[in-house]
Amino acid sequence: MYNKVRKAVIPAAGLGTRVLPASKAMPKEMLPIVDKPAIQYIVEEAVASGITDILIITNRGKSDIENHFDRIPELEERLLAAGKQEAYDTVVNITKMANICFVRQKETKGLGHAVNCARSFVGNEPFAVLFGDDVIMGDKPVTAQLCEAYEKYGLGVLGTKEMSPEVVMRGSSLKLEALDGESNVFKCTDLVEKVSKKEDLLSNYTILGRCICPPEIFDILDNTPPGVGGEIQLTDALAQLAKTVGLTAVDFEGKRYDMGNKLGILQATVDVALTHPEVSEGFKAYIKEIAAKL
Ligand code: UTP
Repeated sequence: MYNKVRKAVIPAAGLGTRVLPASKAMPKEMLPIVDKPAIQYIVEEAVASGITDILIITNRGKSDIENHFDRIPELEERLLAAGKQEAYDTVVNITKMANICFVRQKETKGLGHAVNCARSFVGNEPFAVLFGDDVIMGDKPVTAQLCEAYEKYGLGVLGTKEMSPEVVMRGSSLKLEALDGESNVFKCTDLVEKVSKKEDLLSNYTILGRCICPPEIFDILDNTPPGVGGEIQLTDALAQLAKTVGLTAVDFEGKRYDMGNKLGILQATVDVALTHPEVSEGFKAYIKEIAAKL
């Protein structure tokens, strides 16, 4: 059994151009899914997976994220005085879930560059990366599924799913091989970012929002030149690991919502609202009413 994964990094310093104007002054990671910002779902997933220390990568426009995980004494006093114990617990518990720190990515130079800002926080141990705009819901937290593969094989792990070629071309494409005795864990020997022709896809499996990196990723990132879009791509550094020491990939259980995309935000809202104890009844009735007219 290899080391347990205790730390997680959540890159949340992107510009969110696909969800403008909502993300102009508000971080897209703070967009609510019914009553909780997206990034809180992600932190909760990390905590439910056994992560104790979390670093959120932000930038100068993202102080709302820091505020969300901080105490607000005036609000807490008001809630207590009004006897609103449940609301008080909700706002205070957010601040106690894990040891949460922040660091700023000073220039938006890509996901690989953002992850490289975590070097001193991570030190010499494996760490989970949870993309700040990918919310994944399911019975078993996805990060826990990836941690299990890390603890078994001791190699970096990619969270993946098979998607349509059009979706894969907008992200990474993975070259996978079967692993003995596994049904949803594969060996990953190569990956490429944003190919422009279908023929260049390595497969229809793509990284979806989660990976576990060994600490060796930092030396590789230091020497990774800008790739697609002029950004330092995490995919390029992971490709180097895949081709040398190797990586595994887990076809995870869970439904992923892309909160960096308008349709993804709507899908997350509808699915959560349909099971939310406070609003599900009224929301179901509303959905039925409008669906009948479509
Ligand atoms: P995306 O490419 O989805 O984020 O990066 P983006 O750049 O905000 O999106 P668009 O294309 O402009 O709409 C995936 C994750 O990496 C983070 C983002 O915040 C997101 O969580 N990221 C991206 C950074 O932290 N820094 C970067 O320089 C780029």
